[in-house]
Amino acid sequence: MNCAHSALRSSSTDARRAAAAAAAAAAAAAAVTFSYPTRPGDAALSGLSLRVPGGARVALVGPSGGGKSTVLRMIGRLYDPQGGAVAIGGRDLRSFGSKELAGTVGYVPQDPELLPLSVADNISYGLRKGQAARADVERAAAQAGADGFIRALPRGYDTAVGEGSVALSGGQRQRVGIARALVRRPRVLLLDEPTSALDGASEAEVQRTLERLDRACTVVTVAHRLATIRGADLIAVVAGGRVVESGTHSALLAQGGVYAGMVGRGGSGGGGGGAAQPLPLDAEAAQSVYEQQL
Ligand SMILES: Nc1ncnc2c1ncn2[C@@H]1O[C@H](COP(=O)(O)OP(=O)(O)O)[C@@H](O)[C@H]1O
Ligand SMILES: [Mg+2]
Repeated sequence: MNCAHSALRSSSTDARRAAAAAAAAAAAAAAVTFSYPTRPGDAALSGLSLRVPGGARVALVGPSGGGKSTVLRMIGRLYDPQGGAVAIGGRDLRSFGSKELAGTVGYVPQDPELLPLSVADNISYGLRKGQAARADVERAAAQAGADGFIRALPRGYDTAVGEGSVALSGGQRQRVGIARALVRRPRVLLLDEPTSALDGASEAEVQRTLERLDRACTVVTVAHRLATIRGADLIAVVAGGRVVESGTHSALLAQGGVYAGMVGRGGSGGGGGGAAQPLPLDAEAAQSVYEQQL
């Protein structure tokens, strides 16, 4: 079971299989410390711990520079931590082979880079020839909400994109990036949501995409929009290189801490409305809310 695969389950065997799949899709960071190689003196993460249940939808929120993108890069093993450990399915990521890792976790950066290739080749990039048939590529694109705009391109899936070719919008590039991750059928999908690159329509598409993914698939999103955040199973507020609060939307509002301050309801318990409004989570305002609460 994985992100790109949805099926009905009824028998107890299937239920057991689902439980095993969920366990295999759980992710955890334990007391992770990390500095980027270019800035060895600055801790990007300083003792960050996070437990992500298999199949959960997790939103990472918090002030700009707090460490959200770095957490995704750790779980995607773009870097190894200097202290602590990151695990998927209870196994330290350092024990994964590169092929196994690529089939386990899919990482979609904030602004995915396209190569000067066809859209189809961009989606299947990195896979061996024959590993992803055109039908697999198209299915992944459909799941990523990208099939419609790709078909409308001059040569459909064979249209060359990237520098010097057909230019895609930020939202379209991100959906191609999601398709590129999904075609590998990962158990854990990591998505660094752009703050401004997505217009309302593409954002709604990405949102629907995430909602349609199989529940056995774990999704960790750096999220900026209340619409994405409030429905998450778990919201983790990342600031100063740590998780400073975590819980559901309503629990965090009730707590009246950093998250409540960012939502701007001051722990009044929330209420309806405002679902489409972006949170000022990457604004200086969020930083000052955090600093006030230290
Ligand atoms: N590629 C990088 N090289 C060096 N430092 C980085 C890099 N990316 C992020 N940082 C630094 O790491 C810290 C955490 O950043 P980041 O994870 O990008 O935060 P967020 O995604 O919450 O805005 C910040 O101090 C940031 O400047
Ligand atoms: Mg970021």
